[in-house]
Amino acid sequence: MTALQDLPVRELLRKEAEDFDRLLLYRLDGLEGVPAKLAESMRYSVAAGGKRLRPALVLWSCEACGGNRMDAMPAAMAIECVHTFSLIHDDLPAIDNDDLRRGQPTNHREFGEATAILAGDALLAFAFEVIAADVRQPDMAQQMILELSRATGAAGMIGGELDDIEGERSVPDTATVGRIHGAKTARLIQSACRLGSIAARASKIEYEALSEYGMQLGLAFQIADDLLDETGTEHEIGKRICKDSAANKQTFPRVIGVDASRRLALETAQKAELQAERLGSKASRLAALTRYVVERNS
Ligand code: IPE
Ligand code: IPE
Ligand code: MG
Ligand code: MG
Ligand code: MG
Repeated sequence: MTALQDLPVRELLRKEAEDFDRLLLYRLDGLEGVPAKLAESMRYSVAAGGKRLRPALVLWSCEACGGNRMDAMPAAMAIECVHTFSLIHDDLPAIDNDDLRRGQPTNHREFGEATAILAGDALLAFAFEVIAADVRQPDMAQQMILELSRATGAAGMIGGELDDIEGERSVPDTATVGRIHGAKTARLIQSACRLGSIAARASKIEYEALSEYGMQLGLAFQIADDLLDETGTEHEIGKRICKDSAANKQTFPRVIGVDASRRLALETAQKAELQAERLGSKASRLAALTRYVVERNS
């Protein structure tokens, strides 16, 4: 039998996602007093799957710093709820106007715009409820809430979404693309790594290595997302393709071309890998993930 640590990282991520999904859906179904339509709409987008990269990063970062994964689980759930909220709102007609997500009709196509907006809002609130309610050590909960709220908020993912929309009105350039990608995607991926380190009460050196790892991994991840929009298949990515150039989005393939973007993604992922290596063998899954994020086809 193959030992768990010998499995390819894609397989490890899939297994992690299976266990994680059971816990997250159980926790979500435990919410009381939610209008049935809202509960159904929230569950619809969460249960649709997804790679669960961010929760895996929280758990694996915690373990890379010698922590216990159960201390990181509330933050893992929280960040996936924030991410799912960001996808529901990203797909709305006023933002990217998409009709396919995670291989299913987008939330607003299924439930209507008003419910989709409110399901996103409710998932965002739920994320912070889970940390406040389930993290037993108050100082740890406070640090997690501070980290996740900053990464999500006006100077993080939400600000990045605004810049992404505004960016449609100008000619794409590398500095602007880098700034948008950093805020809308990499900041939250960095936050996943930081949350794991907070759960492990990591040293400053570990926290800093994971912060840099997460930022570079997140940038590589978004370049790969842009490449998949141009070169992927709808069936594999579960989203419509060739939307970015039609919307005049700021993306690397549009500014430097597909081949140079692939090289940039690889170089950026290698910067992340160097940081993971600083953490030694406990971070081997994080190191392996750097290849996965640029080679993925979904
Ligand atoms: C898509 O994120 C949006 C971006 C930030 C690029 P993912 O590619 O992680 O989406 P899921 O969670 O697997 O559906
Ligand atoms: C999304 O960027 C970043 C978010 C904060 C959701 P994209 O708009 O490129 O993500 P997809 O391609 O729709 O998943
Ligand atoms: Mg978008
Ligand atoms: Mg989008
Ligand atoms: Mg995209």
